[in-house]
Amino acid sequence: MMTLFYNLAIVVILIFFLTSLPPGFSLAIEYSNFTYTETSNQANLTENPPHVLAIRHYQNDESTSIIHIGRENYVTGANLCLEQRLLLRVLQGNGNVIEINFNNTEEIQEINFCYINGKNPINIYPLFEQYILVSYVHANDTSDSTTYMDKGMVIDWSGNILSIIDFGPSFLFPNSTTWEPNEFIVNNIVPRNGFLRLSRVRRTNNFEWRQYGRFNHGSFSLLQNDRFITDSTDLTNFQVTVLQTLDNGYAVIYSNKLFASARIYAMKLKFNEKTAIKFNLYELTQPNITITGIFCSVDYVYVGHLCIASVARTIVSQTPTNTTAITTTTLEPLTTPVTVPFAQPTTSTMQALFHLKIRFLSSGSVLTADQVATNENSVTARTLPPGGYALILQQPFKPIIYFNFSLYNESNQLVDYSFPINPIISNMFGAFDILKNNTMVVAQNEISTIWSLMSIQLPSLSLYHYNGYGNFYVNTTYPRKDSDNLEVNCNKINITFQDPVSFADGNLSIYQISNQGDILRQIINSKNCNNCIANDNAVTLFIYDSTFNVPGAKYYIQMDNKFVQNSIYDEAILGIDPYMWIFQTANVDISQSSSYAGDIRGIIRLTKSGTQYFRTMSNSDRDAFITALVNELTVIIPTEKGRLSSNGHYQLDATVESQILISFSIKAKNSEKFLSTLVSKYLNQLIENGAYTGISTGTTTIYLDYIYGFQQTQSLSELFEMHMIKFILLFVGIVIFLMLFMFARMKSPEGDNLIILQLGTTLFRFVIFLMFVFTDSKTIPSLQISR
Ligand SMILES: *[C@@H]1O[C@H](CO)[C@@H](O)[C@H](O)[C@H]1NC(C)=O
Ligand SMILES: *[C@@H]1O[C@H](CO)[C@@H](O)[C@H](O)[C@H]1NC(C)=O
Ligand SMILES: *[C@@H]1O[C@H](CO)[C@@H](O)[C@H](O)[C@H]1NC(C)=O
Ligand SMILES: *[C@@H]1O[C@H](CO)[C@@H](O)[C@H](O)[C@H]1NC(C)=O
Ligand SMILES: *[C@@H]1O[C@H](CO)[C@@H](O)[C@H](O)[C@H]1NC(C)=O
Ligand SMILES: *[C@@H]1O[C@H](CO)[C@@H](O)[C@H](O)[C@H]1NC(C)=O
Ligand SMILES: *[C@@H]1O[C@H](CO)[C@@H](O)[C@H](O)[C@H]1NC(C)=O
Ligand SMILES: *[C@@H]1O[C@H](CO)[C@@H](O)[C@H](O)[C@H]1NC(C)=O
Ligand SMILES: *[C@@H]1O[C@H](CO)[C@@H](O)[C@H](O)[C@H]1NC(C)=O
Ligand SMILES: *[C@@H]1O[C@H](CO)[C@@H](O)[C@H](O)[C@H]1NC(C)=O
Ligand SMILES: *[C@@H]1O[C@H](CO)[C@@H](O)[C@H](O)[C@H]1NC(C)=O
Ligand SMILES: *[C@@H]1O[C@H](CO)[C@@H](O)[C@H](O)[C@H]1NC(C)=O
Repeated sequence: MMTLFYNLAIVVILIFFLTSLPPGFSLAIEYSNFTYTETSNQANLTENPPHVLAIRHYQNDESTSIIHIGRENYVTGANLCLEQRLLLRVLQGNGNVIEINFNNTEEIQEINFCYINGKNPINIYPLFEQYILVSYVHANDTSDSTTYMDKGMVIDWSGNILSIIDFGPSFLFPNSTTWEPNEFIVNNIVPRNGFLRLSRVRRTNNFEWRQYGRFNHGSFSLLQNDRFITDSTDLTNFQVTVLQTLDNGYAVIYSNKLFASARIYAMKLKFNEKTAIKFNLYELTQPNITITGIFCSVDYVYVGHLCIASVARTIVSQTPTNTTAITTTTLEPLTTPVTVPFAQPTTSTMQALFHLKIRFLSSGSVLTADQVATNENSVTARTLPPGGYALILQQPFKPIIYFNFSLYNESNQLVDYSFPINPIISNMFGAFDILKNNTMVVAQNEISTIWSLMSIQLPSLSLYHYNGYGNFYVNTTYPRKDSDNLEVNCNKINITFQDPVSFADGNLSIYQISNQGDILRQIINSKNCNNCIANDNAVTLFIYDSTFNVPGAKYYIQMDNKFVQNSIYDEAILGIDPYMWIFQTANVDISQSSSYAGDIRGIIRLTKSGTQYFRTMSNSDRDAFITALVNELTVIIPTEKGRLSSNGHYQLDATVESQILISFSIKAKNSEKFLSTLVSKYLNQLIENGAYTGISTGTTTIYLDYIYGFQQTQSLSELFEMHMIKFILLFVGIVIFLMLFMFARMKSPEGDNLIILQLGTTLFRFVIFLMFVFTDSKTIPSLQISR
């Protein structure tokens, strides 16, 4: 039996709480429990307890996890079958649970609900926001395994299917007509950018991989796919894992046992490139050496990536012995892949030796490779977000599993800590997860309608100080985390890192926290930033006036992975998660800073595609569009409801290739809030920089023409004020002409004096025309009448 040891390369950004402990100090571990009561929603099936099958957190939001649950239905042979319904629970940070009960049995057929060799055919991958990827198998003829096709379905938290991805034929397992699930999926380090899927080719250690691209309207499209040949013929002890790399690509890490050595390779796949580059990560030149497990992740403390491999020696003997603990690793049919580090030996046994710790860069360069902690049989390794790693021993005692831990710090020393609950008892699926804040979550054994998770707060195992940003690479920032006096309209922020940095390619996003949902205020893209300065360890970023325009408001800044890179190794650096870098603007009174300003009218322009879209709408849809636009802009500026309005008038802009202009007005309001002149200034700034402000994220504001901005038009009173002298002259002129006319009438009542009047009106028209040409042509007078 060959075993694959797969671990999703989890967690990208680290969080840690405690400073490192004095040597020899024994740590207390904190526990807490979360429980949830299920109500059965499948009337005619079993009333068996719900079991937690898997726990997975969102990569960019550790506080949200997807819990896959199921109820036992029946057992066939060694395989357990669950009730035929996909039950997912979204567990949010505030303890809220959203139930997704998916009952489309045509799409997710019966074959998906039976475990096969300890593997669940259904896998759950939280993507980002409210999206989840569910992989499963679909067959035209469920009794003919050659028709089995692998599929992936993108669903949201309401259980809607957004798209279905065809992964191609599901490869059968060697020498067996029994189908076995067989896949590895890893999100891109920027989850919106897609994922990598790997599946093993029948009877070989070769793989087919597929890279899927950026999320677009609920779907991912295939970017590249290929097969690669591993040269490994040892079907028994083949290990493979996939890893997201800091350069937006992926790496496939696998082992190969040769005659007198064992090797670990990395197959590097760049984003959207077909060429796979193979690197030698490590070679052990001892006979009969085997790699029994590999776990890889981003290196949370230093640069690049980190793999921990478990190494054992194969001892071949004529008769199997029962003496060692090794044979207790018999593959329990119900355990998850993670719990199965190596195969059930038949004529050979394994002697566990040691672990290997390998650090390497996206380029493939190996920085260090050391033999570290001793290995024990059936131990699996996990790197921990605040540094260090855990060796986890899972021992099945049906229907539960015992977890024993050993924690190693960054210098590979076994950390002494007191673990009041040891071993930890999990349910029969051994479901667990380790969050970025170093909380380990383990599913408890379920006996009633309740499922429960135990959280275990693991200690921080590195020497670094706690900086609060959840990222070891960050030293400090301006404004500082939790500060509350950032100057309103502040135009500069900065971040200081531990090492020299340069700009890479990622976004930094500034959000204002609000009860109605966070408002995106500004995006800075490090690749397309003219005003960004990287100087040694620090970066300085320039900010629009409109971004920090609200006094006493809470903001947070999120930094993408790869916004900056280590400039010594050219290796991308991890970002800052949402809600880590929170601060407040100074609570100043802005009302006194300017004088009264009246109502302001102005216009915005739709882009060409916006105009096209607008034209396809009915009149009532157009009204709704304009109302939605007003509402979105009100939030983006942000200003009070009712300040911004539109009379619904629009017309074509004849000066460019027919784009629609829409008229707006901003009400004066002499309160502590923004004056209308400020609202107008911010609105214009936001639209002009639309690609980097909230304008780019609205459903209607995306149709605004950034070049045009918000252009003020004059009100009648302003028009009068501005042209007062002309109006007076005009008035005087009219009076003079009228007097002349009267005078002429009086002198010769019978004569044809109308000529004077005609001359007068002609002159009048001429003056009006000139006035229009020189003053009013910039305004759009017809805007008010056309419709
Ligand atoms: C690891 O633990 C050892 C022994 O407790 C200690 O001497 C060493 O400083 C620790 N290293 C780190 C990086 O915490
Ligand atoms: C959590 O549950 C476990 C097992 O059910 C129990 O041993 C432990 O005392 C509980 N912890 C708390 C804090 O309730
Ligand atoms: C439950 O069983 C009853 C009686 O056999 C049947 O009428 C009903 O349709 C079943 N309900 C479901 C949801 O299968
Ligand atoms: C770690 O994160 C989880 C999920 O958000 C949360 O429930 C837990 O309280 C956090 N632990 C600490 C110590 O902040
Ligand atoms: C499946 O779910 C939908 C929506 O949740 C529900 O309307 C429908 O009745 C369910 N079908 C069955 C067979 O339970
Ligand atoms: C399944 O059936 C459909 C339509 O009958 C066919 O197009 C498709 O090729 C079949 N797939 C397999 C794997 O046989
Ligand atoms: C598969 O079957 C072939 C011949 O049928 C045999 O040589 C080979 O050893 C088998 N492989 C495994 C893994 O059982
Ligand atoms: C390696 O295994 C072979 C059998 O496969 C055995 O003959 C040999 O003695 C072993 N070598 C060592 C050093 O254990
Ligand atoms: C090995 O285990 C089997 C069953 O597990 C048992 O029957 C046998 O006696 C054991 N042999 C030795 C040498 O312990
Ligand atoms: C697990 O930990 C408990 C408590 O320390 C210990 O008694 C037990 O022997 C450990 N099990 C293994 C296999 O190390
Ligand atoms: C930031 O850098 C300063 C100076 O190098 C150092 O003293 C301080 O400990 C660092 N802070 C963190 C959180 O690493
Ligand atoms: C960051 O900005 C603050 C405030 O302007 C300034 O005091 C500090 O020196 C700046 N730090 C760096 C590294 O530029």
